[in-house]
Order: sequence, then structure tokens, then C-alpha cells
Amino acid sequence: MQIRLERPEDAATIRALTDAAFEGMPFSHQTEAKVIDALRAAGALILSLVATEDGETIGHVAFSPVRINGEAGDWYGLGPVSVWPDRQRRGIGQALIREGLQRLRSLGAGGCVLLGAPAYYGRFGFENDPDLYNVGAPSRAFQRLSLDGSRPSGEVSFHPAFDVS
Ligand SMILES: CC(C)(COP(=O)(O)OP(=O)(O)OC[C@H]1O[C@@H](n2cnc3c(N)ncnc32)[C@H](O)[C@@H]1OP(=O)(O)O)[C@@H](O)C(=O)NCCC(=O)NCCS
Repeated sequence: MQIRLERPEDAATIRALTDAAFEGMPFSHQTEAKVIDALRAAGALILSLVATEDGETIGHVAFSPVRINGEAGDWYGLGPVSVWPDRQRRGIGQALIREGLQRLRSLGAGGCVLLGAPAYYGRFGFENDPDLYNVGAPSRAFQRLSLDGSRPSGEVSFHPAFDVS
């Protein structure tokens, strides 16, 4: 498996992969692929990685800037992250996330936030911090990982591209 930055020709595959991964997920409104397209169109897809095997794209993860208390800074949101349903639970998602976090560190990011299952994201060091919250999100599902030791507090907002429906 290799992990590399997305290329322009990957967009359609990322869309199909994301739709397939989130299909039928009870927490999903099946808008994740549109969110990725909207982030890309807005120039906000600051890090988009694909995992490939024998030339086939098997997984994808997106990162975009978030605001804390309305201020732009150096914290980022992780997601959507997707692996083809028949390739899940073989370490592809973990490899993509670890590579993405490493690259964020190299970019000098302060930290990363996400909405997701604590049982999955805890392994990367993500945890809920009551002082850093996302309005409307179940508190345990909103998690943060500091990459530079900073502990910001307040309200986090994802990029407006996440509001697509
Ligand atoms: C979530 C996802 C990206 C993980 O990628 P993956 O390659 O399947 O997962 P990995 O092989 O890296 O990790 C597997 C581990 O994660 C666990 N896991 C996977 N999804 C989980 C979830 N939603 N909640 C809790 N644990 C989960 C598995 O039980 C397994 O645990 P183990 O290592 O203790 O056996 C992938 O399953 C996927 O595309 N899911 C559908 C879309 C989705 O839910 N995206 C994330 C939304 S927050």
C-alpha cells in the first residue's frame, strides 16, 4: 500500500469511494462526497491523501481548516475518511490517518479535531475536551488531538463546505 497526495484525476474515484463507504451508515446523510468536492472548490482541502494498492485507490482522508471562536488559525478538521467496504478493517484507515497527522505536524499545525467514534479515534490520541466544543455535536463524538501542546478552548466551527446538503 502507498499513500500519496490526491491528484486532479482522483476526484471521481474519491467521490465514488466516499459514497460507498458511508452508504447506509446511520449517522450519515450521504453528503460526505459533496463536502469533499465543496472543500476542493473552495481551496480548503488543505490535505487530501489517497491510499493505493497496485494502482487502485483503496482509501481516502481529507483535512480542512477549522475556526476556533471564529478565528482562523492552525487547527484542522479530519474527515471525511473512507475505505471501500470490502477493504475495511485491514489497517488502511489507520495508515491514512497516521500519515495525515504526521503531515499536519510537518506543516506546523497546532492540532486536529473531528467528529467520530471515540473507540476508533482514541488510538491516535484523540479525546474529548469539554473546553473545546462543536455546537450541535454530541460531546463525546467531538474530539481533539493537540499536535504542538497547545490547549485552545472555545467553539470550533468546521469549514462552511460541511454545510452542503
Ligand atoms: C472508519 C474507516 C475509515 C476505518 O478504516 P478501516 O481501514 O476500516 O479501519 P482500520 O483497519 O484502520 O481499523 C480497524 C479497527 O477500527 C475499528 N473500527 C472501524 N470503524 C469503527 C467505528 N466506527 N467505531 C469503532 N471502531 C471502529 C475496528 O473495529 C478495528 O478495530 P481493531 O483494530 O481493534 O480490530 C472505515 O471503516 C470506513 O470507511 N468506514 C465507513 C465510513 C466511516 O464511518 N468513516 C468515518 C466516519 S467518522
